[in-house]
Amino acid sequence: MKFEALVLVALTSVFTACGGGEEKKDVTNSASTTVETVTQDLVVEEVDPMENIGIGPIDELEFDEEVDFEMAEAGKAIFDAKCAACHKVHKRYIGPAPQGIYNRRNPAWVMNMILNPDEMVQNDPIAKVLLAEYSSPMANQNLTIKEARAVAEYFRTLEPAE
Ligand code: HEC
Repeated sequence: MKFEALVLVALTSVFTACGGGEEKKDVTNSASTTVETVTQDLVVEEVDPMENIGIGPIDELEFDEEVDFEMAEAGKAIFDAKCAACHKVHKRYIGPAPQGIYNRRNPAWVMNMILNPDEMVQNDPIAKVLLAEYSSPMANQNLTIKEARAVAEYFRTLEPAE
């Protein structure tokens, strides 16, 4: 067994100045101390989620005005087979609900998140925050670009009714 003793030593030095008649000069020594404040850089990179396209093979995705329902249907089948284990379309599950995703994300970002999730959760500012929030990482389901594009079209049909 170990005993710890905390010893407080108070040293009191008393100087008695016998300055009979001597004039005391008051010297104020203003030693300026430079305090370096190190501020931890925890600034979250500011990005506009509607502009940020993420990291991956897709540089741009602009949808046609009309939804391609045939493509969306193919996308739904892919989603049900490969994504539904973690995503419910209308509510938060293991991952976020894709409903209304284009109100908060750039379509190219969505494609890159599907095609390149590992790098995205490591280096993309938005995906990093998502990973922190959802704790488990988004799985790469090895979709082809065409399959991912179909799923992206399917997500358009999940937009909240206005
Ligand atoms: C193993 C579970 C899992 C599977 C399978 C999965 N995801 Fe995810 N997904 C997640 C998680 C968790 C997140 C949140 C980010 C993170 O934690 O990495 C996410 C995030 C996303 C996002 C971003 C959502 C947002 O609101 O920004 C999209 C888009 C997405 N997933 C699409 C898909 C698609 C499409 C598939 C199927 C090809 C799929 N995911 C398969 C777990 C999964």
